[in-house]
Amino acid sequence: MTLPWWRDAVIYQVYLRSFADGDGDGIGDLAGLRSRLDYLVELGVDGIRLSPCYPSPQHDHGYDIADHTGIDPDYGDFEEFDDLLAKAHARGLKVVMDLVPNHCSSRHPWFQEALAAGPGSVERERFLFRDGRGADGSLPPNNWRTQFGDPAWTRVTEPDGCSGQWYLHMFDAGQPDFNWRHPDVSTMFDGILRFWFDRGIDGFHVSTAHGLYKHSSLPDWNGDFFNSYAWNQPEVHEIYRHWRCIIDEYRPERELALVGDLSVPTMIDLASYLRQDELPQGCYGDLLEQPWNPDQFRFSIDRAFAGISPTGATITWVLANHDVHRAVTRYGIIRHQGYHGSLDPVIGLIRPRGPVDVSLGERRARAAALLLFALPGSQYVYQGEELGLPEVLDIPDEARQDPAWFRSGALDPGRDGCRVPLPWSGKEADYGFSHGKSAFSPWLPQPEWFAKYTVEEQWEEETSTLSLYRNALRQRRKVFRPENDRITWLDVEGRHDVLAFRRGDVVCVVLFGDAPLFLPREWGSVMLTSVPMTRDRWLPNNSAAWLWTHTPSRSTSATRFREGWNARRQ
Ligand code: GLC
Repeated sequence: MTLPWWRDAVIYQVYLRSFADGDGDGIGDLAGLRSRLDYLVELGVDGIRLSPCYPSPQHDHGYDIADHTGIDPDYGDFEEFDDLLAKAHARGLKVVMDLVPNHCSSRHPWFQEALAAGPGSVERERFLFRDGRGADGSLPPNNWRTQFGDPAWTRVTEPDGCSGQWYLHMFDAGQPDFNWRHPDVSTMFDGILRFWFDRGIDGFHVSTAHGLYKHSSLPDWNGDFFNSYAWNQPEVHEIYRHWRCIIDEYRPERELALVGDLSVPTMIDLASYLRQDELPQGCYGDLLEQPWNPDQFRFSIDRAFAGISPTGATITWVLANHDVHRAVTRYGIIRHQGYHGSLDPVIGLIRPRGPVDVSLGERRARAAALLLFALPGSQYVYQGEELGLPEVLDIPDEARQDPAWFRSGALDPGRDGCRVPLPWSGKEADYGFSHGKSAFSPWLPQPEWFAKYTVEEQWEEETSTLSLYRNALRQRRKVFRPENDRITWLDVEGRHDVLAFRRGDVVCVVLFGDAPLFLPREWGSVMLTSVPMTRDRWLPNNSAAWLWTHTPSRSTSATRFREGWNARRQ
């Protein structure tokens, strides 16, 4: 039996607005992406995840959707979309789109109708409108806060011109949450799923998949960072059981992907979404919250195997995305500077503040990439990580766009710095982002130092991060077999700064520390290293290697190495 393609696919996450601009307006689009498909083929990925390209006022750059079955004119039209899809498929690339079911845009016709229809109307039932508290209703219905840290309710002006009800939005005020207890909502999403599947896409990445339902009585919460009345409600599983039936309708001809973006408190919670009749895949975001520390990486990896493997799902590994600081910057932080105020501590991990040693971060991010691609399962690679781009930390305040920055009063550095348009070539102002057609500047300013990170600069350069990614992806296909879905840790005596594991015939070793490591001969011959080795079999600081052993050697007590199943540290 052939296994579904998505179980071990490498998916490249395209943040469309910043990938490539086909029409010279400074905003990435479908035509730009289409023109760069060969780059993705050469890179060696299996498919793309496309960030929302639906009509949107762009308050949260497309995650505020005004029409789920349209294309935003900034990005193109259906002709371009269909052409992109056909050309991607012709090159063997799958296309997975982002689905955003927790909320829509305040410009969505349903929300506009709800505003116009007034309190008590059927139209308001599709959202979470409530009267305010206090004598004049001027206090929000409960004390919930958004993911950006500010109050989650906004008061509307009623059709008669008076201040009126409040509506719930767990993100920006331009993103009203749906009321999933209303049958119209699930009926609409059934139609949305079928619309895109019938158009030919290969699956959906479900954004904030642990959201959707809210506790029916919307009670005050206790102030913990995870609001367990707003997220992870038991009713949400019913939706995924139903969507699973929808994707199954397309089998066996098409194996559609349905991967949840899940941020839940425990592994038991995560596994509950991956039950046999629910989501086939769920992103494992824990690893991207880990600092450059071998114990924390190992614990996180073990946790994923222990929690996810029993469900039968493969693990969907993620080391970066459009919501977190780039890996180079996260791993290059020399000293974490804490946040003041009431921000969720996770933000300190994914968007840390502090001085950064970029070249150290680059070495570490390259090592982390080799680790990522050696792990069994599927991997999501965020655009620009293959170029080793650091986070752009000094975007001028007047150029910033991210609601996470505005709504936190600039406490949270926000996500603009990982969304700066990609540098493709040359030294001109837009580094080839607009294919030399740029009548407008890129929508976020690119720093001068982008010149040394362009695709053009790195393509032929053997030691570039881009070449490393290409090599690693090519080798990954050759040497890792999906059926080798477990890893065996190899402990190196006396070295607590090393993570090494065997998967099938390959050993992957990551050196987190500064002292070089002699690569034991039992591990086989060196196949790939994240930075060049200057001495035979000596792995330099903060780097990684893959070694190949045709006949895996058994370790004995006489060796300095000890094998242990990954569950050992659980
Ligand atoms: C998801 C997206 C994020 C967006 C949020 C609200 O978490 O990854 O970028 O802001 O949903 O839609």
